[in-house]
Amino acid sequence: MTEPIISVDNIHKSYLMGKEAVPALRGVSLEIEKGDFVCLMGPSGSGKTTLLNIIGGLDEPSRGHVIIDGENLVALSENELAILRLQKMGFIFQNYNLLANFTAEENVEAPMILAKVGHKERKERTLSLLEKVGLADRAHHYPGELSGGQQQRVAIARALANDPPILIGDEMTGDLDSETGFAIMQLVTTLNAEGTTVVFVTHDPRMADFAQRLIHMQDGKIDNGSGVENTAVSANEDAANPDNQKTDSGADK
Ligand SMILES: Nc1ncnc2c1ncn2[C@@H]1O[C@H](COP(=O)(O)OP(=O)(O)OP(=O)(O)O)[C@@H](O)[C@H]1O
Ligand SMILES: [Mg+2]
Repeated sequence: MTEPIISVDNIHKSYLMGKEAVPALRGVSLEIEKGDFVCLMGPSGSGKTTLLNIIGGLDEPSRGHVIIDGENLVALSENELAILRLQKMGFIFQNYNLLANFTAEENVEAPMILAKVGHKERKERTLSLLEKVGLADRAHHYPGELSGGQQQRVAIARALANDPPILIGDEMTGDLDSETGFAIMQLVTTLNAEGTTVVFVTHDPRMADFAQRLIHMQDGKIDNGSGVENTAVSANEDAANPDNQKTDSGADK
């Protein structure tokens, strides 16, 4: 059996609020194989963003470890962690997080500059990524001159800049109308079919349907019995109750 590309082992995370520790994750273990397409769902505050940030090395667990492609994140120096993030992971956020004073092209180029990719290769790769997301003709536009969907496509091109094996998305379609959201999910599905491992968070069951595997979180833990293949789960829920936008119903009580 091959080693999982992402392995999360008994992660705990608490945030200190004044003198009180607020638990965000309470013993999460998870293995994600290369090529998986995983969706995390769960009520607000259940720990989804915290888990993604820890997987992505943007935040540290209080306890437990995360192994990404054989590297134990906790054991890495800041510098090593920064390099691993550049090489192995692309992030996509709800609000795109593009640099406002940089053109689409410059935004996509930025992670390659950090990774010290040479000028010629950088230019070629940037153009081919913008083509891939259907925005070659917008290379010189600033984020403020692009629609939300176009900005998110630039963000995807930027996330792919250094050809990372893992793509991480936190509510990446949350600010988009559903048609644009579907287009983004179709693009991500294509990337997954080409071999990229995808882990994303959404509240929208229609977006979750794109994933092969659904994981439900609640109260800082993974729900027992989740992690099943997607087909039987959300497709049925949708069909049975098309008006129900809330798959995590009852969880806030
Ligand atoms: N920087 C922080 N400082 C203090 N508490 C935090 C911090 N970040 C998250 N928390 C707490 O940790 C818990 C989990 O938060 P998290 O953002 O991971 O939830 P989430 O599942 O992503 O929610 P949402 O669906 O609203 O984005 C919440 O109780 C939250 O208040
Ligand atoms: Mg969140």
